[in-house]
Amino acid sequence: MAKTQTVYICQNCGRQTPKEMGRCPQCNQFNTFKEEIRSKPKRATKPRGLSGDSQPQRLSEIKSDVADRIHLNIAELARVLGGGIVPGSIILVGGDPGIGKSTLLLQVALELAEKQTVLYVSGEESENQIKMRSIRLLEEDTKIPDQLLLVTETNLEVVEQHVQQTIPGILIIDSIQTIYTADSESSAGSVSQVRECASRFRELAKKKGVVVFLIGHVTKEGVIAGPRVLEHIVDTVLYLEGDRYGAYRLLRSVKNRFGPTSEVGVFEMREKGMIEVPNPSESFLAERIINAAGSAVVVTMEGTRPLLVEVQGLTSKTASSFPRRNANGVDFNRLLLITAVLSRRVGVKLFDQDIFANIVGGLKVNEPAADLALAAALASSVWDRPVLADTILIGEIGLSGELRQVGQLAARLREASNLGFKRAIIPLRRKQQGDLPTGMEIVAVRTLRTALDESLMRS
Ligand code: TYD
Ligand code: MG
Repeated sequence: MAKTQTVYICQNCGRQTPKEMGRCPQCNQFNTFKEEIRSKPKRATKPRGLSGDSQPQRLSEIKSDVADRIHLNIAELARVLGGGIVPGSIILVGGDPGIGKSTLLLQVALELAEKQTVLYVSGEESENQIKMRSIRLLEEDTKIPDQLLLVTETNLEVVEQHVQQTIPGILIIDSIQTIYTADSESSAGSVSQVRECASRFRELAKKKGVVVFLIGHVTKEGVIAGPRVLEHIVDTVLYLEGDRYGAYRLLRSVKNRFGPTSEVGVFEMREKGMIEVPNPSESFLAERIINAAGSAVVVTMEGTRPLLVEVQGLTSKTASSFPRRNANGVDFNRLLLITAVLSRRVGVKLFDQDIFANIVGGLKVNEPAADLALAAALASSVWDRPVLADTILIGEIGLSGELRQVGQLAARLREASNLGFKRAIIPLRRKQQGDLPTGMEIVAVRTLRTALDESLMRS
């Protein structure tokens, strides 16, 4: 029997230690170490990574692959990847269970299999389930392409054999947590298994030029057993996020060796799969009730992309001695801060009010630029004075009730103007720097109090 060894691995960042530690010295998270039993490495002499048969080449003679990207009709995905798929790249698609990862990648498979062999390896669902889903995703008169191959398998060595035999251009692994290799004695889904398997897929991608998509689940506790550990093994990391019960999904690139990061693609989960939302701002505002109290619009930046979203606030007299604060889509502490500034600097009476804050569409807005809109939504609810319908609010709020500058204001205003907004309330300093688009009335103010005067309807 192989000798075994016990190691402790941080489930957050993958750091290994021989002893258990309360706090990880690498990522500073508490209680993230998990015990793993593994066989003592038997092949210490074998080089790690790309298995040792490499040859130095002249950099000047190496082909640049920018032009060779594989075209994708799913434009939102192509954009997030930096303009198509780079051959030989390995891409991790992470996200909560049920968010739509398998659906999106099956759509990718169905599209790309029109031109090349695609091997879809599922360790999660049966052939039958995937077949049913494919039928659902395709238009009625289109048939499933012959070059789309499906196998339900979880053993890495067997998957490698399938790749040898079928020579796919695209390999999709659903999900990396279900794959295991006999080389490692830890159980499937453990950090060392996930890391070992991912390295082997990376080798496959680099040596054979196969594009590998790895699907990775994020665990319930919020720490990512898997994807975090994988981030440095893969070329590109995409996260699919959104409210599972809401319709919208954001696909975000957090690492990309072949393109810009912080790009965002927007999708909507419908009966026929993930449908692109080419005009997200318009969709997010579609159900807004004009002239209703407690609603304000902000332009938030998702990477380089401005998005208009509706921020809602609701206040209601509390029945208990501890009024509730409930933040959905905004940071809880940010809500407390804005509540405090509203009470102390503007004199809005909130101490006996339950407060609910919400971002429409299941989005999360974490940037301070949304402070002003949130404050306006809350004040609007307390005073029952709607925010003027054609007005957007952008600005960070400081503790003294002052408005602070935010980045990329010009891009934000352009997007708002495109969607028909006529007035923008912005921090004063920014206007003095000039270079703002015309076509909108720009109201530059110094304090939250003035901003509210300028944006709420007179009662
Ligand atoms: P799925 O892709 O299986 O999620 P993941 O792989 O990230 O776990 O998506 C699951 C959810 O999506 C499920 O609740 C059903 C829903 N869904 C649709 O709404 N429309 C569709 O066309 C499909 C295929 C799934
Ligand atoms: Mg799935």
